[in-house]
Amino acid sequence: MSLIRSVILGCGGYLPENVLTNEDLAKIVDTSDEWIYSRTGIRQRHIVAEGEMTSDLGTKAALQALERAGVEGPDIDLILLATSTPDNTFPATAVTIQANIGAHQGVAFDLQAVCSGFVFGLATADNFLKSGQFKRALVIGAETFSRILDWEDRNTCVLFGDGAGAVVLEAQKLNSSADDRGILLTELRSDGRHRDKLYVDGGPSSTGTVGHLRMHGREVFRHAVTNISEVINRTLELSGYSADQIDWFVPHQANKRILDGTARKIGLDPEKIVMTVDKHANTSAASIPLALNTALEDGRLKEGNLVLMEAMGGGFTWGSALIKY
Ligand code: UT7
Repeated sequence: MSLIRSVILGCGGYLPENVLTNEDLAKIVDTSDEWIYSRTGIRQRHIVAEGEMTSDLGTKAALQALERAGVEGPDIDLILLATSTPDNTFPATAVTIQANIGAHQGVAFDLQAVCSGFVFGLATADNFLKSGQFKRALVIGAETFSRILDWEDRNTCVLFGDGAGAVVLEAQKLNSSADDRGILLTELRSDGRHRDKLYVDGGPSSTGTVGHLRMHGREVFRHAVTNISEVINRTLELSGYSADQIDWFVPHQANKRILDGTARKIGLDPEKIVMTVDKHANTSAASIPLALNTALEDGRLKEGNLVLMEAMGGGFTWGSALIKY
């Protein structure tokens, strides 16, 4: 029996040059490396330079992913950019990236699911590819959260960073389960009753301003472990795999304590967590492809590995993806 699967051909990432450490932050707000590291696992984050935009980061990550995939802009017919920090309210930042990489056909659009954006983007692209509507997709997560942080609010400004990651997906016809490759399963959820727990207090239709990120951290934390564990358990149950068969857990990077708690709850060896939150902080939709890129570049993650991704973010939105790399 043949089936169409979305296979990852290449991955890329980009982090702005400027690094802001916890010690640097302690000079701006009343905080300390000890507090930030012990509560979150974060040591530093990358911050964009003046004039550097989400499209610039996304373009660099996309070009690296294309090169590693061995394809070029014109080979891509679907571009999905997951971001909550677009260059402008419109047009979609995805079309700027489309122009920058020379992909002058097909379709490009933004997708907004905050920190879950990359998983939502993967699921959307996967369904388009499996349906036969498109052949090759670029899924990008790119963010400049530093532009929506209140740099006087120590509750939030210490948690986030800027960056971008991208993958090239191709629809491939596989013959049997022996060829089991690509995205095996995705699960998506949202529950708008929790939209006021993590939000931005501005927007074009409400205040006419960009606004700043606000968060009830403890509430988000409480829901995160429960929601993530639930969606992972469902993914494993539907796929027939067990937690001990996962080679690499490549989660959204918000807080080390959330990841350790989730691993404990689903019975996953903590050694299998790809952790980048120490160096990148929370880069929202960019955090999963950046972590994936890190594990590929250092040689940990290899072809044939079973990879589990998950994310949860504002909305609430959350979801997971199971991939045979
Ligand atoms: O990616 C989307 C999802 N986002 C998340 O998953 C974030 C989820 N939440 C968290 O990661 C954690 O809740 C935080 C890291 C945000 C906070 O950790 P916590 O252990 O829940 O701390 P808390 O909110 O209970 O705050 C404890 C204390 C407070 O002081 P009081 O009121 O107890 O006197 C805060 O004012 O820590 C204080 N505090 C700080 N102190 C030093 C808050 N931020 C800071 C800071 N430096 N930066």
